[in-house]
Amino acid sequence: MENNISLLDGIGNTPIAHIRLNNNYGFYAKLEGLNPFGSMKDRAASYILLNKTKDGTINKETKIIESSSGNFGIALSATCQILGYKYICVIDPNIIEINKKIMELFGADLRLVKRADSNGTYQNARIEYVENFLRNNSNVYWTNQYDNDLIVKSYYPLAKEIITQVPDLTHVYIPISTCGTIAGLSTYLKAINNSIKIIAVDVEGSKIFNKASKVNCNFPGMGSGIIPKNLSKAKIDDIVIVSDSDCIENCRYLLKNGILCGASSGGVTAAIKKNELKHSFNDIIVGIFPDRGERYLNNLYNEKWCKDKIISSYPLLT
Ligand SMILES: Cc1ncc(COP(=O)(O)O)c(C=O)c1O
Repeated sequence: MENNISLLDGIGNTPIAHIRLNNNYGFYAKLEGLNPFGSMKDRAASYILLNKTKDGTINKETKIIESSSGNFGIALSATCQILGYKYICVIDPNIIEINKKIMELFGADLRLVKRADSNGTYQNARIEYVENFLRNNSNVYWTNQYDNDLIVKSYYPLAKEIITQVPDLTHVYIPISTCGTIAGLSTYLKAINNSIKIIAVDVEGSKIFNKASKVNCNFPGMGSGIIPKNLSKAKIDDIVIVSDSDCIENCRYLLKNGILCGASSGGVTAAIKKNELKHSFNDIIVGIFPDRGERYLNNLYNEKWCKDKIISSYPLLT
């Protein structure tokens, strides 16, 4: 018997869990890693492709292209499989092997950009590849995650869920990279209640709030080598910059709560801890946990990698 139920219908309605940081201080973690393809980016991928299918911009002959080596690339790969689209994913040598493997399994056509930019990263070179591809091919659709109103809107349901789960929330901590999530969440939440405070969490070595920074982001997820256009659509009250070692340390703390999550969730936890003195007893805090941790077993959760790459003095896992 045939029916119309799709895995895409399982996107969203993720659980929320309370994390205690000390006796009187804690927050609610929105566990976006429990989306079907493993991250909050599932929302953006399905929303954009379903909308563009509906308005006729894309059809079965269209090639979908994006520069992404992380969660958005995986979400697009899986969504394109389900909807029957060809997906071209532009990657660089820094891609994590497991992400590459997952995208390959989901049938993505991976295009490797080997030439680094003048700042030693590949972000601009990957975008240049996409722009060239668009110039030289017809019937190609670029999801353009750095500047896309549909992606911003795709996070309105996430905001709605948070308001339903934590009706009295006062502060939301959001890790940033393309700034699509923070633009969507802040627009929706401030429209409902302008006094809700939005805190952006970025990582040292990102250019988003520090143009002079030498780009050096060790984990996929947080941080960016360019300033995304989505940033101008975000309503941000405060910014916290965390380090890679903050992410490592806090991801290990979260394991004690039964949560195996990605680096940026550790970063959010670190940011909430850093801001403890700014909060009052009555504040109700939500932190966005974008993904789960299995894809980070060879870096974030590998003690040798952490020791060699991040800080040689980092204590080994016990
Ligand atoms: C794990 C993780 N954290 C945070 C982010 C940042 O989200 P955004 O790109 O919407 O700013 C991403 C984006 O891919 C991510 O994969």
